[in-house]
Amino acid sequence: NMRNELNRLVSSISDPKTKKLFDTEMQSFFYLFTRYLAEKAESKELVWDNIRSPGADQIVPYDQLPTNPDPKNMNKLAVLKVNGGLGTSMGMTGAKSALEVKDDMTFLDLTVRQIEHLNTANKVDVPLILMTSFNTHEDTLRIIKKYANQQLRITTFNQSRYPRILKEDLTPAPKNAEDDKSKWYPPGHGDLYNALYQSGVLDQLLSEGKEYLFVSNSDNLGAVVDETILQHMIDSQSEFIMEVTDKTKADVKGGTLIDYEGNIQLLEIAQVPSEHVEDFKSVRKFKIFNTNNLWINLKALKRIMEGEGMELDIIVNPKTTDDGQAVIQLETAAGAAIKHFRNGHGVNVPRSRFLPVKSCSDLLLIKSDIYSLEHGELVLNENRMFSTTPVIKLGDHFKKIAQFQKRFKKIPKIIELDHLTVTGDVYFGRNVTLRGTVIIVANEGQRIDIPDGCVLENRLLSGNLTM
Ligand code: UTP
Repeated sequence: NMRNELNRLVSSISDPKTKKLFDTEMQSFFYLFTRYLAEKAESKELVWDNIRSPGADQIVPYDQLPTNPDPKNMNKLAVLKVNGGLGTSMGMTGAKSALEVKDDMTFLDLTVRQIEHLNTANKVDVPLILMTSFNTHEDTLRIIKKYANQQLRITTFNQSRYPRILKEDLTPAPKNAEDDKSKWYPPGHGDLYNALYQSGVLDQLLSEGKEYLFVSNSDNLGAVVDETILQHMIDSQSEFIMEVTDKTKADVKGGTLIDYEGNIQLLEIAQVPSEHVEDFKSVRKFKIFNTNNLWINLKALKRIMEGEGMELDIIVNPKTTDDGQAVIQLETAAGAAIKHFRNGHGVNVPRSRFLPVKSCSDLLLIKSDIYSLEHGELVLNENRMFSTTPVIKLGDHFKKIAQFQKRFKKIPKIIELDHLTVTGDVYFGRNVTLRGTVIIVANEGQRIDIPDGCVLENRLLSGNLTM
C-alpha cells in the first residue's frame, strides 16, 4: 500500500529531472519504512540486562589527550553544522540558526566568525558546510549571502524531505509531491550521511584532500574546532569520535553511549522501554551524554556508504499535524553511526563544549553580560566572581521567542546573579540589574512590570505589584 501511494506521489511530478530526484528520495524513505515494519513485526527490543556501561577504554578523558597537536592536521579538516531543525520548542518557524543570539549576530554569523578566525590564525583553509532542510534552506541562504565574497568557503546541501506517515493506516500524509509543508519532515540529523553522499559533497571533500569532518549542532556555541581531539583521533586511528560530557540532573534526556553485547552504541531515550526510563535518566548508571559534537573519518564514511551501508537505529517520533491528524515520523540520530566505524569511541570533554540554546532561559544567559564574544566564541566575563553561571528559570509566558522578545525591553545585567525564577505575566524594563537570588511570581490574572533602572537583590516579588 505504501509502495503504491509513493508511486502515486512520484507520478504527480511532470518535470523529468525533479521527478528523478524525488523518486530517489522516496526510495530511501521506503527502505527506512520497510525496516521500521520489519522491526515492529520482530518486536526487536533492546535486552536491558545486556546493556553495560562503556569500558574505560571506550570513553577517554579530555585531559589525557595529546598536548602538542600538529597544526598541519587542519589542512585535512572540514566543519559541518547540522542545520535542518526548526527549534519548535522555542516557537520558531524558520531556521533556529537564524536567531540573533548576541551583538546582533545569528548562530550562523557566529559560526562564520569562529571559522574565519581559525583559518587566519592557523593559515589554513577549513571550509564550512551547512546541512539544511526544506524548512531552513531559505533562511540559511539569506544569512550566508553576505559572506559570498569572503575568503571562507561555505557549501550548503539539503537533507531529505520525507512524507509524514498517517498513524491510522500507515500511508503517506501528503497527497501529491507539492502538498503542504506540514505533511513532510526532515528525518533527523542521522540523515547527514545519506545526504552527504547523495549530494556529492562527500566526494567533493575527498577530492580536495579533506579527511576529517567535525560535525555539531548549529545551536551549540561551544562546539569550536579542537585540535587536541583531532590529534587524538589520528593517533588512536579512530574513525569516529563522539564528544560526551558529564551528565547533570538537568540533562536527563540526552543520548548516552553504552556497551551492548561487546559493541559501542548510542542509546537514545526513545529506544528505552518505558519500565527502564527512570534507570536511563539516572546520573549514576549513565554518567555521560552525547553532545552531538562528532569527528568523522571521511574515507571510512565512503567505505561504509559503498559497502555495508549506514543503517541507523530508527527513532519513531509521534506528532500531530496542524489539521489534527496523528502521524509518525521515522528519524535517525547522527551519533548512532558510531557502531559502523572502526575504533569509534567517546571523549569526555569539559561542559563548555556543550553550550546549546534549547530554551529562552538559555538564550537570556547567552545574551547577557555573563558572556562576551571573542572571534565568534563565547567567553565568560572575568568580572564574575564565581566559576558557575546563574541558574535561570523563565516560566511558560517566556517559552516562545516572540514572547521573550516582548517581555525584555533590554537584557538585564546579571553578572552578580545566582538564581532567577520568573513565573506569570512579567515584563522587564531597560537597565534592570538582578543580583543574588531573585524570584518574581505574578499570580494568575496579574501583571508585574519591573521598571527601567530597577535593581533587585535577593528579592522575592509576588502578587499584583506596581513599583
Ligand atoms: P534537535 O531537534 O535536537 O534540537 O536538533 P532543536 O533544534 O532545538 O529542535 P526542537 O526545538 O526540538 O525542534 C539538534 C540539531 O540537529 C539539527 C538541528 O538543526 C539542530 O542543529 N537537525 C535536527 C537537523 O539538521 N535535521 C533534522 O532533521 C533534525
